[in-house]
Amino acid sequence: MFTIGVLASGKGSNLQAIINQIESGFLKVKIGVVLSDNPQSYALEIARSHGISAIFIEPGKYKTFLQPEQEVKYVKCLEEHNVELVCLAGFMRVIKKNFFNSYSGRIINIHPSLLPSFRGLEAWKQALQYGVKFTGCTVHFVDEGIDTGPIILQAVVPVLDNDTPETLHQRIQEKEHIIYPIAIKLIAEGKVKIEGRRVIIDED
Ligand code: GRF
Repeated sequence: MFTIGVLASGKGSNLQAIINQIESGFLKVKIGVVLSDNPQSYALEIARSHGISAIFIEPGKYKTFLQPEQEVKYVKCLEEHNVELVCLAGFMRVIKKNFFNSYSGRIINIHPSLLPSFRGLEAWKQALQYGVKFTGCTVHFVDEGIDTGPIILQAVVPVLDNDTPETLHQRIQEKEHIIYPIAIKLIAEGKVKIEGRRVIIDED
């Protein structure tokens, strides 16, 4: 079966959404392994409670990316678990060379804005501060830039006058939980093609 690996640093609600869609039968993939740079990540607990290998790998001395020797360990571990697609789900570090050597074009991410607006951290706060009336979330392929890779799917979320960062983030996450499993399903079924910056989906 098509095998994915999930990398998460935080609470793991996207991981949970993926697991839910596997258990419902919608998503016919296997999660080979869940990796985290944070031993406290709830994602590790979610994985273990579903019988999925969950491994903390020391990130090393840098804050925003993995120390290269450590990055090699992440990639080795994914390969050992036969991972074909790497899914970043709230993984708080920039992916670098070692990942692209092995998984170029096979790494995806979920970002909480309508890219290319509001790249980087706390995109829902950036959207609120900017005053946009609509924001949302984006599933995209990961390239060597930050939140710059080809866009696979997006969902729109209206910004309400009484929104706080928390309420807006929560409504964005509800959409993330819908589109991330759909994007994984499309890739697993071989329906996604990259043409330059455009991602073409073969809907049959
Ligand atoms: C999500 O908002 C996602 O868009 C961003 O990190 C957050 C992860 O949330 N990349 P969770 O850990 O899956 O709940």
